Amino acid sequence: MEESVRRVWAALDREAARLSAITIADLFAADPDRAAAMVVNAADLRVDFSRQRLDGSTLRVLVALAEASELADKRTAMFAGDSINVTEQRAVLHTALRAPADTQIEVGGVDLVPDVHRTLGRMSQLVDEVRASGIRTVVNIGIGGSDLGPAMAALALAPFATTGIDARFVSNVDPADLAVCLAELDPRTTAFVVSSKTFTTQETMANARSAANWLATGLGLDVEAAVSARVYAVSSNVAAAGAFGVPSEHVLPMWDWVGGRFSLASAIGFSLMCSIGAENFAALLAGMHAVDRHFIEAPLERNAPVLMGLVGVLNRNGFGYGSRAVIPYLQQLSRFPAYLQQLEMESNGKRSDIDGHAVERHTSPVVWGEPGTNGQHAFFQLLHQGTDVIPVDFIGARRSTATGLADDDIASQHQKLMSNLFAQAAALAFGAPAATDNPHASGEHRAFPGNRPSTTILFDALTPSTLGQLIALYEHATFVQGVVWGINSFDQWGVELGKVLANAVLAHIADPAAPTTLDPATRAAVAWFNA
Ligand code: F6P
Repeated sequence: MEESVRRVWAALDREAARLSAITIADLFAADPDRAAAMVVNAADLRVDFSRQRLDGSTLRVLVALAEASELADKRTAMFAGDSINVTEQRAVLHTALRAPADTQIEVGGVDLVPDVHRTLGRMSQLVDEVRASGIRTVVNIGIGGSDLGPAMAALALAPFATTGIDARFVSNVDPADLAVCLAELDPRTTAFVVSSKTFTTQETMANARSAANWLATGLGLDVEAAVSARVYAVSSNVAAAGAFGVPSEHVLPMWDWVGGRFSLASAIGFSLMCSIGAENFAALLAGMHAVDRHFIEAPLERNAPVLMGLVGVLNRNGFGYGSRAVIPYLQQLSRFPAYLQQLEMESNGKRSDIDGHAVERHTSPVVWGEPGTNGQHAFFQLLHQGTDVIPVDFIGARRSTATGLADDDIASQHQKLMSNLFAQAAALAFGAPAATDNPHASGEHRAFPGNRPSTTILFDALTPSTLGQLIALYEHATFVQGVVWGINSFDQWGVELGKVLANAVLAHIADPAAPTTLDPATRAAVAWFNA
């Protein structure tokens, strides 16, 4: 780490030490404008940092840390298509996927934007074809980034499902996942989308083969004919998709400059588009693009993703908080925490810096969460009174998009939902002294210490546009943290060993007598499994 950067980190440590004697309540008392001043708007998102443990002085140090880390130059390099994913020698251009058609983004002398829009056009045509052919359900088979984004978004945008095609998602190699999904489906009205950037992922290929067999049996065709008729593919490995039997007109491309966990706006979103239609998909991309523009244009100290990233650094490195909870007060965002787990932990769960040296600071916290209010009746006890302080991201909307109940009931339930969100953020920040009306519980049992930080992200309603904005907000915050931690957020070498060993174990299960380098505990477990 360069000396100039080290000096800013030391200033951040001093800020954290100073703040350890100051509560969030003190910060509000010291600044009557805090509730407004600490809110940053990005497109339609209202991001409220006022319940975080920081003040103007801390903000200046955090921005200085971003500057010392050359955030602005690195952001420019990412948007320009430089090979910032150095360990894989790749550009990182998920932002090109949502660039308007009249933009130019050249990599190696080739403008990528026309190809992006051609692919969006093909996706839209294929959606029309799928519908016209009487298909009522598409089953996306993929895992990780080839599942979590579209699965999360299809659930979030269920009220916008306008095509009459139902999108389902199967990811786990556990046969129960596919079996449960298919049990409800009719092969005559079902198509599959095999989504895999590499088209080699064990889980996806196993599910794709079983699905092809199910189709063939159900349709009374041979497997080749069933795949040719009813299987679509999204992949950068077009040859492998062809070898699987998917006709080229059913193959949608992906590009190596899109990382799996950043790929929702690519053809990986095809199943989502099958459900919400091309227009809503375009609105999702426009929402992402609006936050891309904000990320590029807003000054660092009023830049929502920059501040989200920096506040995360303060919490992780200044205060030493090892995890962060994401609590959407929107049932339809129930898969959003799982989606963020891959985005953040696969990107920033790293112990080596970009040059391969050991990092000097902790990197990604553990990210987890569940929708509110459900979480309140499960783990909020620990958030309020546990020995660990766990910062929270609260997410909520002014209006519900629920339908099918009386309007008054929806409005009144939504009020209750949001009053819980606001109440929880207040309780965590400000706490409460012990109530004294119970002789069996001591003051300590009933006291709420408060001073537990949170960020609250609000928007009018969960729509394709606001969902896109939310996703881009977190994507860029993740990038900001990677820059400050000096790591490459775009590779994932940490998943490789398990994949290699799983293949070795599979071979050992098949032929236990063959020589193996597996360890004794694994060999014993396989012997038990095979018995
Ligand atoms: O195992 C991790 C990973 O490579 C993720 O990064 C990726 O999103 C997922 O597997 C699926 O990969 P693919 O799209 O190539 O099947």
